[in-house]
Amino acid sequence: MRAFRAILNYGPRLMLLRCTLTGFLLALTACGGDPDEPVTYCDVEPIFEQSCVRCHHKDPDFGAPMSLENYADVNIHQAMIKSVVSSGFMPYTMSAIQPPVEPLSSTEKNMIIDWIDSGAPDCE
Ligand code: HEC
Repeated sequence: MRAFRAILNYGPRLMLLRCTLTGFLLALTACGGDPDEPVTYCDVEPIFEQSCVRCHHKDPDFGAPMSLENYADVNIHQAMIKSVVSSGFMPYTMSAIQPPVEPLSSTEKNMIIDWIDSGAPDCE
C-alpha cells in the first residue's frame, strides 16, 4: 500500500519532468539544434511555405498582392513582412478559404522576426 501511494505521489511529477525534457529537446530541434547558429532562410522557408505561399505564390490568390514563394520575393518585402507578422495581420485568417488559415505560433513569429532582424540571410 505504501508503494502504491508513493507511485501516486511521484507519478505525476515524473511525467511532468519527462514532458519538460521532451519540450526542451523539441525547442532545440526547432531552432536547428544550436542556439548560436544564425537563423537563415532555410529555417524560415517551411513557415512561409505552410502559412503564406498558399495565397502569396507566383500568381497570387485570394487577393494577396505579391508572391512570397522564394528567397528573392521574401527578401524585397522583408520590412513589410516583419510588420504584418508582428501585428498578427498575416497570415490572413479572416478569409473563408478551406481548410482555414491558422495563425502563426509565437515560436514561428519570433523565428521570422529574428531572421529579419539579423539581416534576412539566405541559406548557407
Ligand atoms: C488567406 C490568404 C493569405 C495568407 C495565407 C497570407 N496572406 Fe498576406 N495578404 C493576403 C491579402 C488578401 C493581402 C492584402 C491585404 C490588404 O491589403 O488588406 C495580403 C497582404 C500582405 C502583405 C502586404 C501588406 C501591406 O501592408 O501591403 C504582406 C507583407 C503579407 N501579406 C505577408 C504575408 C505573410 C508573411 C504571410 C504568412 C505568414 C501571409 N501574408 C499569409 C492574403 C494572405
